[in-house]
Order: sequence, then structure tokens, then C-alpha cells
Amino acid sequence: MTNISFDDEMGRIQRALAQSHDLVVRRNTVIETLNLQTGEKVLELGCGGGSYAFEAAQFVGPTGQVSAIDISADQIAAARERCARFAWVECQIGNLLDLPYQDGEFNAVYSVQVLEYAGDLGKAFREIHRVLRDGGRFVNLSTNWSSCVWYSENKERMRRVLDGWSAHETHRDLPTILAGELRKSGLQLLRQRAVPIVNTSMGESSFSYWISKIIPGYVVGRGAVSKDEADAWAAEFAELDQRGEYFFSLTPVLAEAIRIS
Ligand SMILES: C[S@@+](CC[C@H](N)C(=O)[O-])C[C@H]1O[C@@H](n2cnc3c(N)ncnc32)[C@H](O)[C@@H]1O
Repeated sequence: MTNISFDDEMGRIQRALAQSHDLVVRRNTVIETLNLQTGEKVLELGCGGGSYAFEAAQFVGPTGQVSAIDISADQIAAARERCARFAWVECQIGNLLDLPYQDGEFNAVYSVQVLEYAGDLGKAFREIHRVLRDGGRFVNLSTNWSSCVWYSENKERMRRVLDGWSAHETHRDLPTILAGELRKSGLQLLRQRAVPIVNTSMGESSFSYWISKIIPGYVVGRGAVSKDEADAWAAEFAELDQRGEYFFSLTPVLAEAIRIS
């Protein structure tokens, strides 16, 4: 079950977030790890607005192929527009739990902040295993939201907001269970490493600026805090920033695996 939808305003904010300094750094790290070669066929799960597919297309070139799938029609419309110049990028609406691709079709599959929203994780990994060829690479980035340290003078309110927010993912702290899930599906984990985010000021180039725009609507909608509390929670960041006391940190984890059978 998906706990959050990336259509409409949520999709718009997610695509703005993708252009933040923190996520440009993340994108470079993921793309470097994928090590794409000319002519390779690569699949992106949950492509959002297509910023990764746009980069991947330039590495595989016209003799390669980038297939990108997302469950949100809004996100796919944005991804098609972003990648329009590359005839070898194909973006389609679909569910990663039921991939519309042939067995062994891809040299590499990758997903960034997506599998935590998938319902049946075992099925997701079986599908990834099925569409990868032997020796094919899988790269995933997911966040342990339990690692979030976000300074507030009202610690109790911050705790309730972050507890409410943690429900937005079906699989919380996915990196902590990834190795076992990969192994069960026939994918061999090679390594995991942190791609941390630290924000000491709050502006549009920071990850936490955009996340702070998404969180209030979600936690108020779930009844985790009142609208007044959520407004006060958001307003505190500008005050802290002005005093030079703003602090946010989070530990997303990048995993590399290969298909071994
Ligand atoms: C947090 S966004 C990440 C987008 C993109 N990977 C990025 O990092 O910019 C999560 C994306 O996963 C998509 N998604 C969620 N569940 C999905 C599913 N079961 N199948 C395909 N896409 C899914 C959402 O629609 C959304 O675009």
C-alpha cells in the first residue's frame, strides 16, 4: 500500500526538491555508482520528474536505452518533458511490483527513495531480479528517517511531527532490512554507504527547506499535530536560521548489489 501520493502539489514540491543542492550531490553519487556504459540498457524505478533518467541517457547514449517507470501520471508527464530530447528514453506509467519488461532485459536497475513506498517488498525484489541479466547491477538509495536530527527548542513538538512523518513510508528505515531482502531474491549486496545530508541554514538549495513544506500537510492530515502546532513548527526554522542556529541532519544509505543467479 502507498501511504503518500506524488501527484499534484506533492509532485511539484518533490521535483523542486530534486533540484536542491543536496539532491544534485546525491544524484551525482548514484550516477557515479551505477557506472553506466555506452549502449547499456538501464531501468529506473519510481523516476519522479526524470532528473536521473536525464543524466543516465547521456551515459548510455543512443545505442543504449533508459526505461523509466512511475506510478504517478503527473510524474511521468514531467519526466517525458524533461527527457524529450532523448529518443532512447522511454517513460511509462506503471507499478514496480508488476514490471512490464522482459526477463533479463537490463544491465542495471536503480531506484532512489522509492522502494520504501512499495507494498510487497519481496515481490519488488523478485521483479528486479527477473528483469536483470546475470551479473546485472542494482543500485538503491533509501533513507533511515530514524537518523533524522532536526534542532528545535520545542523537542516534544518536533518528536510528534517526526513520529507522524515516519508513517509516510510503508517500509520505515528500509536500509536496515535491505541485505536480507536482497539475499532472499537472489541479489548479492556488495556494499552500503551513507550519503549524508547536513543543513546549517535553510534555503531553497537545502533538502530540509523542501521537506519542511511537505511535512505539515501530511502530519496535520493524519492528526499527529494540530494545524496551529504545524505552523509554529515551520515558523521556528526561520527564527533559528536568522540567529544562525539552524541544524538538520539525515543519513540516506546507498546500496550496490548484483544478480548472482
Ligand atoms: C520520493 S519520490 C522519488 C522520485 C525520484 N526517484 C527522485 O529521487 O527524484 C518517489 C517516487 O516513487 C513513485 N512510486 C511510489 N510507489 C511506486 C510504485 N509502486 N511503482 C512505481 N512508482 C512508485 C512515486 O510516484 C514518486 O514519483
